[in-house]
Amino acid sequence: MGLKHLTLAGLAALGTASAFRLDQKPIFAHPGQQQPIRGGADSEKPLVTSEALEATISSKNLLKRAKQLYEIAKLGEKEYNHPTRVIGSEGHVGTLEYIRESLRALGDYYTLSHQPFPAVSGNIFEWRLLLGLDLAESAWPMGLTPPTKDKQPVEGKLIAVKGEGCNEEDFPKELEGNIAFVRRGTCPFGTKSEHAGKAGAIAAVVYNYEDSPVSGTLGAPSPDHVATFGLSGAEAAPYLAKLKAGEEITATAYIDAVVDTIMTDNIIAQTKQGDPDNCVMLGGHSDSVAEGPGINDDGSGSLTLLEIATQLTNFSVNNCVRFAWWAGEEEGLLGSDFYVANLPEEENQKIRLFMDYDMLASPNFAYQVYDARNEVNPVGSQELRDLYVDWYTKNGLNYTFIAFDGRSDYDGFIRHGIPGGGIATGAEVLKTKKEVKMFGGEAGVPFDVCYHQLCDDVSNLHLGAWEVNAKLVAHSVATYARSFDGFPKRESVEVAATKVGLSKAAKYSQDVKYHGSKMHQ
Ligand SMILES: *[C@@H]1O[C@H](CO)[C@@H](O)[C@H](O)[C@H]1NC(C)=O
Ligand SMILES: *[C@@H]1O[C@H](CO)[C@@H](O)[C@H](O)[C@H]1NC(C)=O
Repeated sequence: MGLKHLTLAGLAALGTASAFRLDQKPIFAHPGQQQPIRGGADSEKPLVTSEALEATISSKNLLKRAKQLYEIAKLGEKEYNHPTRVIGSEGHVGTLEYIRESLRALGDYYTLSHQPFPAVSGNIFEWRLLLGLDLAESAWPMGLTPPTKDKQPVEGKLIAVKGEGCNEEDFPKELEGNIAFVRRGTCPFGTKSEHAGKAGAIAAVVYNYEDSPVSGTLGAPSPDHVATFGLSGAEAAPYLAKLKAGEEITATAYIDAVVDTIMTDNIIAQTKQGDPDNCVMLGGHSDSVAEGPGINDDGSGSLTLLEIATQLTNFSVNNCVRFAWWAGEEEGLLGSDFYVANLPEEENQKIRLFMDYDMLASPNFAYQVYDARNEVNPVGSQELRDLYVDWYTKNGLNYTFIAFDGRSDYDGFIRHGIPGGGIATGAEVLKTKKEVKMFGGEAGVPFDVCYHQLCDDVSNLHLGAWEVNAKLVAHSVATYARSFDGFPKRESVEVAATKVGLSKAAKYSQDVKYHGSKMHQ
C-alpha cells in the first residue's frame, strides 16, 4: 500500500463498565434517576398519532440537517486530511455537541443523559510489506494493530504456521525473531496475532482462504499482539507454494501506528411524559468510520432520530420514548454494547423493544427490514418486523428481508433479551436485477457505492428513500408511544437470552463473522 498517508481507526471497548457517569450539568441525568413529570403543558398537547407525526417529516428538514452535519465532519480535516466523524476526531466531538445542543433547545420535554465510556483508538499512518523483494500489493494492516518495533521496518524469515494458528502449539520455535504466515479462519485475527507474539514473532501476516484481500481488526488490544497484516489468498498462494517446497523467503514488515485509549460518549434522551416502566427505545450511531464523513452511515439514521425527537415535542405520549445516539458503532458496536451491558435488570425490563436505524438513505437503496423472528430472537422482535412490513405494504411499497446478523446496534439488545429490529437501505452488497424491478436503481452496483468511503457526503443521500424511511421511523415511534396493546410482554431476561443471547454468545467467536462492520475473524 505504499506510503500514502492514510489513517485507519479501530477501537475496542475497554474492560468492564462502570455505572452511568453523570454530567456536571444538571440537565444531564440518567432517566432512571428522575421522576417523570406528568400533567402540565404537555398533557394539553394532542396525543401523538402516526399520521400527525409522519406529516411533520420532510426531506427538506432532513437535508438541512445533513448539510450541517457535513460541515461538522469537516472539523476532522485538521487531523485526518479529510472530513470524518470517527470517534476521537473533532468531527465526532462536534457531532455530539450538535446533538446535545439540539436536544437542549427542546426545553424540558426530555430528560437528557449521557454515558461516557473508554475505547481504544488505533491510528495507522504508514505501512509496507515486502515478500522477498516484491511489494505485497494487497497487504492491509489490521485495525488496532501495534506498530512494528520502534515504528521501523523489521526483517525476518516468513514462517508458515500450522493449521489456522488457533492453538499456541501451531506456532513453531523457528518463529522467534521471524514473521508468522497464518491462514485466516476458525478463530479471531486477534488470537492469531497474540499467539504469534507469544512465539516471539516480530510481525504476522494473515492470508485469506479466498482469493480476496482481508481487512479486519485485531479487536481489544493484548500486550502479546504483534504488527499484523491481512493479505489476499491470491497473493499468498505462490509464497505458500515456495515455503512448501522448502524455499526460504525473507520478508520486511513495516507499520507505523498508535493505539490510544480515549473517552467517547453515548447520548440518551427520554421523554419526561409517558409510562417510564414501558419504554420504546430507538437508536442510531453518532460516529462514522475514519475514511469519510458518514452522512448516510449513519448521519441519515441519527439525524432522523434528532428530527423526530424535535417534532415529537408538539405531542403527548402514553409510553416513554427513549432515543439513543451511540458512539463507537463502527469499531464494533461499542456504545450500544456498553449501554446494554450496564443496564441493571430492573432497567432492562423497562425497555419493551429497541429499534435500530442505521443507513436510511442509501443512493441505490432497497427498503430492507431485518428478518427478526420470535423463535430465535426475544419475543416481540417479529411483531416489530411486521409493523415495518405492514407499513410498506399499506403505502404500496416493496420491501425485502435482510439477515438479522449482528451488524448493527440491535445486537447487544437481543443478546440481553430485549426485542429488537429495524430497517435499512443497504451497504456494500450489489443490487440484484430483481431488486431493481422492486425499487428502481442500478443492478450490479452496491446499495451504497460510497459505503465507508470519503464520498459518503450529502450527495450520497437518496432523499426520497430517506423521507419514506423517516416517516416509517415516525410511525414506529408514534405507534408504541401511544400503546403496547397487542405487543408481547417481555419474557424474562433469562428466557429470552437463553434463546439467543447466551447460546449465541457462547458460540460467538466460532459462528459470527460480524459484530459491527469490521470483520474480526
Ligand atoms: C410545533 O407546533 C407549532 C405550532 O403549530 C409549530 O410552529 C412548530 O414548528 C411545531 N414544531 C416544533 C418542533 O415545535
Ligand atoms: C414492486 O415490485 C414489483 C416487481 O416485483 C414491481 O412491478 C412494482 O412496480 C414495484 N412497486 C413499486 C412501488 O415500485
